Amino acid sequence: MNTLEIKTSPFSGQRPGTSGLRKKVSVFQQANYLENFVQSIFDSLEGYQGKTLVVGGDGRYYNRHAVQVILRMAIASGFGRVIVGRGGLLSTPAVSCIIRKFKAFGGIVLSASHNPAGADGDFGIKYNIANGGPAPEIITEAIYAKSQQIKQYLIADCRDFELDTPGEQQTGTMVVEVIDPVSDYAELMQHLFDFDRIKSLIDSGLFTMRFDAMHAITGPYAVEILEHRLGAGPDALMNAIPKEDFGGGHPDPNLVYARDLVDVLFGSQAPDFGAASDGDGDRNMILGHHCFITPSDSLAVLAANAHLTPGYRRGLAGIARSMPTSQAADRVADHLGIELYETPTGWKFFGNLLDAGKATLCGEESFGTGSDHLREKDGLWAVLFWLNLLAVRKESVQTIINAHWHHFGRNYYSRHDYESVSADGAGELMEVLRKSAGSLKGKRYGEYEVALGDDFSYTDPIDGSISERQGIRIVFTDGSRIVLRLSGTGTEGATLRLYLERYESNPQRQSLDAQDGLADLIRIAEEIAQIRHYTKRKAPTVIT
Ligand code: G1P
Ligand code: ZN
Repeated sequence: MNTLEIKTSPFSGQRPGTSGLRKKVSVFQQANYLENFVQSIFDSLEGYQGKTLVVGGDGRYYNRHAVQVILRMAIASGFGRVIVGRGGLLSTPAVSCIIRKFKAFGGIVLSASHNPAGADGDFGIKYNIANGGPAPEIITEAIYAKSQQIKQYLIADCRDFELDTPGEQQTGTMVVEVIDPVSDYAELMQHLFDFDRIKSLIDSGLFTMRFDAMHAITGPYAVEILEHRLGAGPDALMNAIPKEDFGGGHPDPNLVYARDLVDVLFGSQAPDFGAASDGDGDRNMILGHHCFITPSDSLAVLAANAHLTPGYRRGLAGIARSMPTSQAADRVADHLGIELYETPTGWKFFGNLLDAGKATLCGEESFGTGSDHLREKDGLWAVLFWLNLLAVRKESVQTIINAHWHHFGRNYYSRHDYESVSADGAGELMEVLRKSAGSLKGKRYGEYEVALGDDFSYTDPIDGSISERQGIRIVFTDGSRIVLRLSGTGTEGATLRLYLERYESNPQRQSLDAQDGLADLIRIAEEIAQIRHYTKRKAPTVIT
């Protein structure tokens, strides 16, 4: 079999963002664009010859093509084996699970997460290291550097691989192994959670649920786990067949984009429990009968109840949350007498803490929750965790959250996104705030007094690496906070994210709608940051 050396030249802008390289499909379709990036990944790694690579994606448009290209390039570069999910499919958490289980050298995930798919949508590619987690910045920066100097790439001159039947195919010195995308992951879940107990809850007929796979990758996982293993009826699943364009939708499990599910849970005859996952299966949204659990609260509830599940019965080493995530989990950590770690936005910052055994549960306000069972956030894991709690506590979601707030207090929380605004305007807003944040201390806004204003900087407690400029924090003396940062995952203009949080200890005052509970802070944020002026928008695009 021949290896072809194809001459190429660099593309600007191949710098991986919060979660790998994400661009419009049309950008990836330019000749050599994908190949350049894949070669840059391989060129920034060492010692992978003869080793195993895991490859799979969320099934969006271009997934199949990209898998074939990566397989041919992996042969040419000397990998010994590539494990690929049937049909080129693997959820992001499943990639992480399989890298760890089979001790692979690394893995490539093809996904742009929740961004819309299809020929006019987005595509993405991300490299994960041997611990199963996203490559740290030192590697992503090396990939970028390689992509800016690339002169040629290597690709095997061979036919396409058959990806639809599990089994092994030998080509040259490399084996391509097509595996069932679900079974290894399902086995891990069965080990962590009490499937018998969840099954009896579902079989009892006293409990109803709905899971929305949003036409994306979690469909096959939900069918196998929720339907086949836990006995949920087919009515419990919505949009469970993955489509290349995700049914034209925006598979982001939040109150705006998972509207159909939200309508069911807030409608008449609403089920007891509802959940959704995103395009690549790493996010989750949790709903109860007429109630929504914020991801920050979900992390806190899971932490406070983890001892009720087989996988976490022995307790938690610590909890980690991203800086903009609410401080609800901090109170649980305090109560449990364990450490709470505050990291920058992005799952990659949890990797070292998990590897070092310092944190067991991790979460982000952006509908991401996970644990040390793998090194990505994990949508179905969170759903199963909640199901396990519901099966043990035999209380409604609403009762569980009310009891939690009663005990720990409630952190009113919301995120306002200003999507696709002018990059210049948003950049200027951040620049101005960055300069003024330090001088806000002591200033009063209504009942609030500023205790701290800064641009969050993080020193990794394990390797000492420093990540600066991770978001402007304005913290008030009562612990309330306003946080602003620019998204690192958007593909058009800039997206400004405003995060708002207020603590309320009085149970009599914990039942407001979040926007009402945060009304003063929303006004103060506008006064301090002049969002309307800089974004030229009257209101946020998405409120979660
Ligand atoms: C967003 C979320 C962040 C998450 C990332 C990948 O990044 O805010 O928490 O880790 O997507 O799912 P952002 O667009 O804010 O940079
Ligand atoms: Zn995702």
